[in-house]
This record gives sequence, structure tokens and C-alpha cells, in this order.
Amino acid sequence: MLSSADFQNRLIRYMPEQKPEKPDKAEKDAMIAEIRRLLKEKNAVLITHYYTDPEIQKLAEETGGFIGDSLEMARFGAGHSAETLVIVGVRFMGESAKILSPQKTILMPSLEAECSLDIGCEPEEFRSFCEQNSDRTVVVYANTSAAVKALADWTVTSSIAVDVVKHLAQKGEKIIWAPDRFLGDYIKRNTNADMLLWNAYCIVHAEFDAAKIEELKQIHSDAEVLVHPESQPEVIALADVVGSTSQLLKASQQRSARKFIVATETGILYKMQQASPEKEFIFAPTSSVSSGISCEADCPWMKMNTLQNLLEVLQSFNNRIELPDDVIKRALIPLERMVNFRK
Ligand code: 13P
Ligand code: SF4
Repeated sequence: MLSSADFQNRLIRYMPEQKPEKPDKAEKDAMIAEIRRLLKEKNAVLITHYYTDPEIQKLAEETGGFIGDSLEMARFGAGHSAETLVIVGVRFMGESAKILSPQKTILMPSLEAECSLDIGCEPEEFRSFCEQNSDRTVVVYANTSAAVKALADWTVTSSIAVDVVKHLAQKGEKIIWAPDRFLGDYIKRNTNADMLLWNAYCIVHAEFDAAKIEELKQIHSDAEVLVHPESQPEVIALADVVGSTSQLLKASQQRSARKFIVATETGILYKMQQASPEKEFIFAPTSSVSSGISCEADCPWMKMNTLQNLLEVLQSFNNRIELPDDVIKRALIPLERMVNFRK
């Protein structure tokens, strides 16, 4: 099982060295025009996560591509006819696209865009944990490597995790859950399932600070609190709505409140504000967690995706996601269960 010290050391090793530089307006416009041209010429489509830079989300929208949560990205890519999928997010999203569409070319602007959950769950370590508890059904979060998925019975995203575990628990199955211990704890409390939890967490969502959110609620007593379930239990306890990024976006549109305190990554603001321009969104305050890394609700790896490296990958077709055939074959089993679950 992962120790806190090992996790912290690995996080430091994988952290991006610096924040990308911002181009000026003329450079930006020229890059956007060239990206649009290359997408058409090369029969490629942009599939982006809500946490990426708003300029990239806008470009995906305007070029027939897609913005969504990790489950929707996987479903969109699997169903799209383009020969090349450009996955703008973090590495596990590119790997999921490759597993679901092995015949397609899968490109990513940066292959170093990691995720703290994936970093915190190495395949060999996880394999021995599964072997020690071989009577249990293995359910892993989508935020894992292809090699970890290849060890699993089920893959889930935050939008379906509770429903899938409930479904398994009703059949009497005991569960191994990895890697997010806070999401695992949330699922356990909402299903009463017998679950063994792995010990990693998301360094972005774990930073939201319950005491500071309570103070903010007192100042904005008319605001509702929207929380992603990768947050700590005390933060989840303050939520009016707990859900995946898409579920939180939907709640911000459908609920009658005019003001929201949002405990998820800052990139979501682009779609929330676009869908409800008359509403006010305030980001939940953060404080440092034990990792010692400060994110302030900005995922450092999601923000490695820039117009610059998006353009470069469309020019070079480098940064392809390639996976061994046996890993694709085995990881497809839990991943297909995920994309086909109650569609
Ligand atoms: P979603 O499944 O909500 O897109 O979450 C992915 C993620 O990385 C959250 O931090
Ligand atoms: Fe991973 Fe957290 Fe970044 Fe999502 S926000 S990609 S869970 S590190």
C-alpha cells in the first residue's frame, strides 16, 4: 500500500517545472487559425476536458469537437468518425481513448500531463494489493494508467461511481477501490459497500478548505455550494450538490440559486459562465495539504496543455499514445463496462 512519504516524493518528481508562458494576441490568433486549418486537413477532432484552458475549450466547441467530463470524453471519442483524436486533458484520458479506439491515432499536446491519482497508483504495487485480496471485485477510477485498468474488473468515473458500486454491493460483492481515498470514502458512505481503499488523492480537490468555505458561506448566505467528490469529507459535508464536473455544471444551470461557491478546478468557469451569464461563481478557498504543493484549484497538469503544444502536435503528429496489445485487450474489459453502464 502507498505510504504518504512515497506519494509526496512521487508528486514532486512529476510536477511540471514551470507554468507555460502566455502568447500575445497576434501570436494567439495566428496559432488558432493554423490549428483550425490542420484539424480539417488531417481529419482530426479536439476532445477536451473542462479543466483545460478556456481558449482551447472554445476552439474545440467552434471546430466540431467536444468539451466534457472524463466519461463523456471517452464516449465521444469512441463514437466519432475522425481518424485522429486529439485528447486535451491528462494522460489517462488519452490512454482510455486508445483502448476504446485502438485503430485510431491518438495525439496529446503533452505526454507529461499526469494526474496525481495515476501517479499514486503504480501497477506492480497495485497488483500485489489485489493479489492479497483476491476475493474482492476490483473497481478503479478512470484516473489510472492503462496497466492499472488491465488489473481491474470495473473502471468508473465520478459520475457513475456510486451507482456502479451500489449495483455490485447488491450482488453481494466486496470491493477493492483505487486510487482516490476521498472519493472512495464518499462512495462507501453512500452505498454501505464493503470497500478496501487505496491511499492516493487529487492534489487539487484535496486542497479545498472546509473552515474557509464556511466563512465564505456566511458572507454569501444566498450562495449554494457545488463540490466534486474528490474533495475531503468535511468539504463534501458542506455541499448542496456533489457530483462530477458535468453534474456540477448541470446543477449550476438548473438550480434557482443565482450564486454558487464552486469546489472544483477553475477551468469549469468557462462553461458555467457561458451557460449562465447572469449567475455569479465564486471559487472555494484552498489551503495547503500534506503534499506541500499549492495548486489553488488549478490542476498543474491540465494546464500543461497550451495552444502552442496543441499546434506542434498537429504539425508533427508526435506525442502519440501507444500501448501494448495485451494491455489494450485486458483494459478494454473494465473500460467497456464503464462506457456502456446505463447509457
Ligand atoms: P470528471 O470525471 O468529473 O471529469 O473528473 C476527472 C478529474 O480529473 C477530476 O479531477
Ligand atoms: Fe488528476 Fe486532480 Fe488534475 Fe483531475 S484535477 S487530473 S484528479 S490531479
